[in-house]
Amino acid sequence: MNQDWVRWHEAYDDPASYLSARLACVQAHLSDALTAAAPGPVRLLSLCAGQGNDVLGVLPGHPRRADVTAVLVEYDGHNAAVAADRAGRAGLTNLEVRQADAGVAANYADMLPADVLLLCGIFGNVSDEDVRRTVLAATAMCVPGATVIWTRHRIPPDLTPQLRAWFTEAGFAEVAFPQLPAAPLAGVGVARWPAAAHRSAPGSSNAPGSENARSSLPEGRLFTFRGAD
Ligand SMILES: C[S@@+](CC[C@H](N)C(=O)[O-])C[C@H]1O[C@@H](n2cnc3c(N)ncnc32)[C@H](O)[C@@H]1O
Repeated sequence: MNQDWVRWHEAYDDPASYLSARLACVQAHLSDALTAAAPGPVRLLSLCAGQGNDVLGVLPGHPRRADVTAVLVEYDGHNAAVAADRAGRAGLTNLEVRQADAGVAANYADMLPADVLLLCGIFGNVSDEDVRRTVLAATAMCVPGATVIWTRHRIPPDLTPQLRAWFTEAGFAEVAFPQLPAAPLAGVGVARWPAAAHRSAPGSSNAPGSENARSSLPEGRLFTFRGAD
């Protein structure tokens, strides 16, 4: 990896930065998604979670905190350690930071399908084909009614119109694609997998623990990082 993914997080220290504006938006929608999740246990999965700013900025004070089991998948050892340390200090005993390759779904198959799926900071770093493959895979990674929160920069050529179309074509309903006045080139999307989920295979189900959900994942990698965000 060419990018220094530890230093990348330093932009969060500046409240006026693009990343801080994006983070505030992601956190607001994450809070809403947890509130909207069905009563009972909630599985929260964050891929390429970095230092976990989004989840760790919301979960400690959220009313659904006790319902949530979270896994943050992060490849970089230092970032994973920072996230784990923060989670520990917040007393989040049901949050695991897993140092692993998020491009390989087998590394978090135990958390699938999820109620809330975070795909933040991924789509600007992988090929368009990988973005499309990951959007399609997300249909097999979500329980009915699940929320997916994703990000993608909007630097021309802006892929977000195509990305939003891929989500809706895959069967997701768009919940939000807000304009961020403080960061017009930041794209944050929120999509919901239908409560009455339609599956390509008749009779299959996205119920938690369903083998069908796992077997619908594509063969091979979902994505491979290629460079700077
Ligand atoms: C752009 S940052 C986003 C971090 C976080 N999601 C956020 O929005 O603040 C991308 C992160 O993905 C991590 N990463 C890169 N390739 C990965 C992979 N194959 N599996 C898991 N994490 C990966 C990097 O170490 C980095 O922390």
